[in-house]
Amino acid sequence: MMLKNYAPTHTHAWQKLEAHYKAVQPKHLSELFAEDAQRFEKLSLQFEDMLFDLSKNRVTEVTLDLLVSLAQEMELPAAIESLFSGEKINATENRAVLHTALRSFAGDALEVEEEDALKEVRDVQQQMRTFCNKLHSGDWKGYTGKPITSVVNIGIGGSHLGPQMVAEALKSYQKEGIEVYFISNVDGTDAAEVLKKLDPETTLFIIASKTFTTKETIANAETARDWFLKAARDKEHVKKHFVALSTNTKAVAEFGIAPENTFRFWDWVGGRFSLWSAIGLSIASAIGYDKFEEMLRGAEAMDKHFRQTELRRNVPVLMGLLSIWYTNFFGCQTHAILPYDQYLRLLPEFLQQLLMESNGKTATRDGSKVTYQTQPVIWGAAGTNSQHSFFQLIHQGTFIIPCDFIAPVNSNNPIGQHHTMLLSNFFAQTEALMKGKTEEEVRAEFAAKGNMSQEEIDALVPHKVFEGNRPSTSIMFHQLNPYTLGALLAMYEHKTFVQGIIWNIYSFDQWGVELGKQLAGKIEEELLDENAPSNHDSSTSGLMAYYKKHRK
Ligand code: F6P
Repeated sequence: MMLKNYAPTHTHAWQKLEAHYKAVQPKHLSELFAEDAQRFEKLSLQFEDMLFDLSKNRVTEVTLDLLVSLAQEMELPAAIESLFSGEKINATENRAVLHTALRSFAGDALEVEEEDALKEVRDVQQQMRTFCNKLHSGDWKGYTGKPITSVVNIGIGGSHLGPQMVAEALKSYQKEGIEVYFISNVDGTDAAEVLKKLDPETTLFIIASKTFTTKETIANAETARDWFLKAARDKEHVKKHFVALSTNTKAVAEFGIAPENTFRFWDWVGGRFSLWSAIGLSIASAIGYDKFEEMLRGAEAMDKHFRQTELRRNVPVLMGLLSIWYTNFFGCQTHAILPYDQYLRLLPEFLQQLLMESNGKTATRDGSKVTYQTQPVIWGAAGTNSQHSFFQLIHQGTFIIPCDFIAPVNSNNPIGQHHTMLLSNFFAQTEALMKGKTEEEVRAEFAAKGNMSQEEIDALVPHKVFEGNRPSTSIMFHQLNPYTLGALLAMYEHKTFVQGIIWNIYSFDQWGVELGKQLAGKIEEELLDENAPSNHDSSTSGLMAYYKKHRK
């Protein structure tokens, strides 16, 4: 089946949810906890060693039942099957969406465009394994015969954020003797600052670009090649120091990278879903291919859970539906991602692209304009640092901001009492957000101290009251390792998909990034050639004139 085109607002479930919202909205979370001693058991889910506690959300069991009915009416189960079976559900690009095939270890074939996708995937995985073995054994030698010690991924968007985030997240699994770097921004500072740390004799560049036409990446790749050739001099040496990850093998060859150093992938892998493909080569270079495969296996386990578990117990389904509840019924416009693990500090940035590039849309599947909100803004940062910057607003600001708190039970760096302190904060914050602090509690605290006048107390009380009733989801797992990280990321990918199905939008294209790219190309010509025709609004012309006047 192709995805159906329905407005979610026209379903029976939506009407019921609107009425239900009116009943649930005035309820305080502490009331809901007080009413039901089993609330945590009823509203938390276990997936392998991972715990997803949904109980601090502004929902009841009825809310989840109604949200699941909405998913049923929107034909989510059939849509999930379309995803896994390789139907062309990315209709505006006429492509299948098969990142799940990249981590499928089941033996069956999967035909896409008359090719067996699984066989193709395994061939490239074997090529990646062989590459990693040569790199880590020191058999991959640079042009002066020295082994490679630095690997630099050059890419942007999905060809950068996922690899960089995972390489950072799994740093404690990193192979000795290899350092991995990332260059992404077309701002020359990015390349300059990385290159100055490197030795051309022992550096290997991975040029990661699905299309191999992305201007930023090509500019950075050319800069890296110039830097390398300044030392190596002979173009023949490029093949020992440059490999490419791309669907566009023709453009890769034109750049001068040998076919045996090209790692392919396919149109049916979306950029922001590509870290499982050859785009993950920098990850495998950092942690070794076996560990990379463990990550794929964790993702595969989550895929199976998503495909096989009834909607009401299905983690990505409920996570996606909660987002619908807050966005469309509570009117929340942002969602915070708060990892309590320093290794996961880049997760919010990665999820920004995943969710916002996928679901930041206004056109429904039939091309009409949505009449409801779609993707909220994703933002966040690691705890506890974020507690000392923006948590004030989450606790006492005027917006309700649903949060995902994420933490491992055991640290990869158990030092003294650090992890106990970290997790004390993790537990305390979700409790504080949920409960708040009433005026009576604030006054009782002042009374117990007994060192202030009534007048002073009255003036301070309003500032020290916390409304509470601020929702959060807590995600815990035993330890951050490749398998668990794979499962966590796959969960967020599927949550993204669920939201797109309910919002009746296409989640796998990104036409919204094109206009800026087109205009930048035209403006670049005008900045380089004084005689190029120019026709902008007065603001843009004024800014360009200021730049031209003062540039050196
Ligand atoms: O500009 C958006 C985008 O197309 C992303 O979707 C993609 O991840 C990124 O650019 C990089 O694209 P490529 O891998 O083709 O260089």
